[in-house]
Amino acid sequence: KRIKLTQYNSVDDAVDLIKNAKNIIVLTGAGISTSLGIPDFRSKDKGLYAKLEYLGLSDPQEVFDINTFRDDPSIFYTIARDILPSTDRFTPTHAFIHLLQQKGKLLTNYSQNIDNIESIAGILPEKLIQCHGSFATASCVECKYQIPGETIFPDIKAGRIPKCPKCIASLKAQAGTSMKRKRSQNGQSKKRGRYDSGADDSTDDDLDTAKGGIMKPDITFFGEQLPDRFSDRLTNHDKHLVDLVIVIGTSLKVAPVSEVVPYLPAHIPQMYISKTPVSHVNFDIDMLGECDVVVAELCRRAGWDLNHEMIPEK
Ligand code: OAD
Repeated sequence: KRIKLTQYNSVDDAVDLIKNAKNIIVLTGAGISTSLGIPDFRSKDKGLYAKLEYLGLSDPQEVFDINTFRDDPSIFYTIARDILPSTDRFTPTHAFIHLLQQKGKLLTNYSQNIDNIESIAGILPEKLIQCHGSFATASCVECKYQIPGETIFPDIKAGRIPKCPKCIASLKAQAGTSMKRKRSQNGQSKKRGRYDSGADDSTDDDLDTAKGGIMKPDITFFGEQLPDRFSDRLTNHDKHLVDLVIVIGTSLKVAPVSEVVPYLPAHIPQMYISKTPVSHVNFDIDMLGECDVVVAELCRRAGWDLNHEMIPEK
């Protein structure tokens, strides 16, 4: 935690900083999507982790742990349908980040969110780092074969564990080869083994028991590396250009994203917009409240048209 003597202390200071900045890093978390009804993770009663108590895990974060997934993917797939992106809407806060982009002020939006709503709001791919990945693609945990994420949505919605089409195909091919070998060895044998019937009657269910072939959305689980673009862009590009940091709707509990703020030069002003204060980071300005309301007020004072309706509270 760094001690800072800051010359900024009011919302108008925040507005001035935003109006004068040219290269803003916006670092976002689950709090910017909650007004769409998507739960955050750590809010005490409405957060996803509070809702997962019924799973009986020692730590609810285990649902996003890669070792847990490898041991038992059904734990993740029990809850996956509840966190599947299912909206084409975005919030005033997403609109605010887009407005910064339109005004040529957005350096990068580092988002920890997996809902991909930044893309729906029009944040350009080159300005967006989805630090924890997203549901946009899915990969096989064994052979790394990657497919569009939507391909596995029907399985997720039906509560099935999605299989890797490539692994299944190669297992079927292997099964076919061993079937032919057995037939040539056994001649006219009528005995039916698993793969020694005349027809290829192996099903995907037969192959379930074979190792491998589980698809996982390309979300960065605990124990996995963040995408290379995260540290590449931060250390080789943004660090030298950034002139303002705006952190919105995150508890900053998860490294390495939580380390972005202390990593950047201390003289770069940093502001925090969220419902809950953080005690482990000293920001120059804290604006506590609903982020949609805060950004709307910042825009009003800046004389900017946010051009997005507020979402009524549920
Ligand atoms: P958290 O749930 O930890 O924090 C969300 C923060 O947003 C909290 O401080 C809330 O008080 C605040 N918040 C919620 N709704 C808000 C609103 N409408 N306006 C303003 N603030 C609001 O979520 P993250 O910090 O994003 O990782 O969590 C970080 C990572 O932990 C996630 O990416 C996820 C999780 O484990 C993975 O899935 C791998």
